[in-house]
Amino acid sequence: MSTISTQGTTHHTELAGWVEEVAARTRPDRVVWVTGTDEESAEINALLVEGGTFVQLAEDKKPNSFYCASDPDDVARVEDRTYICSVEEKDAGHTNNWMDPAQMKATLEPLFDGCMTGRTMYVIPFVMGHLEADQPMFGVEITDSAYVVASMRIMARIGTPVLAKMEELQADYVKGLHSVGAPLADGQADVPWPCNDTKYIVHFPEERAIWSYGSGYGGNALLGKKCYALRIASAMAHDEGWMAEHMLILKLTNPEGVVHYIAAAFPSACGKTNLAMLETTLPGWKAETVGDDIAWMRFGDDGQLYAVNPEFGLFGVAPGTGYGTNPNAMHTIERGNSIFTNVARTDDGDIWWEGMTDDKPEHLTSWKGKDWTPADGEAGTPSSHPNSRFCTPIEQLPTLAQEYYEPNGVPISAILFGGRRKTTVPLVTEARDWQHGTFFGATLSSETTAAATGAVGVVRRDPMAMLPFIGYNAGDYLGHWLDMGKQHDESKMPKIYLVNWFRRDADGGFAWPGFGENTRVLKWVVDRLEGTVGADETPIGLTPRAGDLDVEGLDLTDEQLAAALAVDEQEWRDELPLIREWFDKFGDALPQQLEDELQTLTQRLA
Ligand code: GTP
Ligand code: MN
Ligand code: MN
Repeated sequence: MSTISTQGTTHHTELAGWVEEVAARTRPDRVVWVTGTDEESAEINALLVEGGTFVQLAEDKKPNSFYCASDPDDVARVEDRTYICSVEEKDAGHTNNWMDPAQMKATLEPLFDGCMTGRTMYVIPFVMGHLEADQPMFGVEITDSAYVVASMRIMARIGTPVLAKMEELQADYVKGLHSVGAPLADGQADVPWPCNDTKYIVHFPEERAIWSYGSGYGGNALLGKKCYALRIASAMAHDEGWMAEHMLILKLTNPEGVVHYIAAAFPSACGKTNLAMLETTLPGWKAETVGDDIAWMRFGDDGQLYAVNPEFGLFGVAPGTGYGTNPNAMHTIERGNSIFTNVARTDDGDIWWEGMTDDKPEHLTSWKGKDWTPADGEAGTPSSHPNSRFCTPIEQLPTLAQEYYEPNGVPISAILFGGRRKTTVPLVTEARDWQHGTFFGATLSSETTAAATGAVGVVRRDPMAMLPFIGYNAGDYLGHWLDMGKQHDESKMPKIYLVNWFRRDADGGFAWPGFGENTRVLKWVVDRLEGTVGADETPIGLTPRAGDLDVEGLDLTDEQLAAALAVDEQEWRDELPLIREWFDKFGDALPQQLEDELQTLTQRLA
């Protein structure tokens, strides 16, 4: 029999009751209330090192930083194990897995029974967004994973100050219950990365609750992030008239000193973190970061849409992040205090991954713990998992905008939608209006990446880059987007753009250099917002006129530029049946305005 000892407690009566109830079911050896202090963090990291989960990196390379390898079968979000358990099936419709909530609980309760035996149950009070916001958005994650505690401390504002505020307000909060699903029998040794072959990532949108079982991977286990800030929050936003989106937030200042805040939705591993930390390549242009993954957007009293980044850290895709492509991310991790999961280790106590530096180290220990040399890379075995991640405090980011600290956010001038498309989608297209822009988002498509389990490189529709994150009926979600435009003064709504950094030229290479050079696309967008450039009318929308896109000094052939910018009408005619097929999934739930947009596009291409 294990005994429960409680260190700390709470005056939040309802929370105290819930913690007791969970402990009674999961039967941990002890309960720890997470305070968030440096001392506590040091203790937890030491515990993870001792247990073999963490390897501390050399202090002179990455201070206070840790390497971690997951179980090789627990490396990404598991979309086929992710459920939206709304009371009515129709409220999860079209794109989500659904199960009746009572039936789901009956399935999960036996799994949670005794699942924390032999482990510590941590209670993590957290707030997404600012504690000083008009309505602070509280959550509590109960977890049996110390790795989750260490990561949550980086990704969200956690601990005693949050709990104190919750107690003061006796506040409502999102209940997040997480277990790796690996109880320990008396005397049984632990493994470095406990998890379970059975995985469930379950959301109860009406109850504002999350039950996550069997996985330790960030997107499945750090419940403040995708589960709360996107899935549950999108359902709240639908009820309350705001928006929770998978978007970066960028502050852009032009040479005249005019500031625009731009939000952008790209599917996972399609360039949000990169664009959010852009190094501009045009003189006089300055880019700063407000957020790199999630934007919560509400209307201000002035009728403009304001966005906040609800997170406190960066959970970025490691491979491809390097001094050439994203130096600001590199400077952020150099400051330490970071966790690196499923990357490779150098012989001198540092980490490395594909694309970090042009030169490959001569010897590494791969994410699977094996010796690795560049010859292995050439033979097709990368040193790091393609979805390996860095987890690092956003306050270490050299380009962090002061406005990150604005509790009510920044006014958004433009929204970009983008994905990975080898063909068809040109570098940049402006929507004619909000409804047309919503059509851009609703039909957004991308080739799949390693950020979720499953095949890579298959074109799928990913509405607003939210396919895996819409916490309710996807038809209602698209309707909500249209409503946001209809209910507000359209002249104050952000302008919407479709972008594609990933189009290929005749030789199969990227037609557009991307990364820092995306400044040139942003410049065109800002010039459009400022009304200083015109645009060509095409069947798909408004595109840059020849000469308006600033390509001065760019090493780009005319053919490559043409390949990047072209609106190929035949490719678009080929796209129509794919959009039709996608829309047909929604049946009657597809908003008529989107049907109208498809008709318009079809006619314009005829
Ligand atoms: P999540 O954090 O999973 O939501 O993804 P993300 O959208 O933040 O993706 P991220 O910025 O980490 O992009 C990862 C991949 O996109 C890397 O392989 C980059 O090399 C690639 N990438 C980003 N920007 C560009 C670009 O402008 N051009 C090209 N060709 N690749 C890019
Ligand atoms: Mn993401
Ligand atoms: Mn990212």
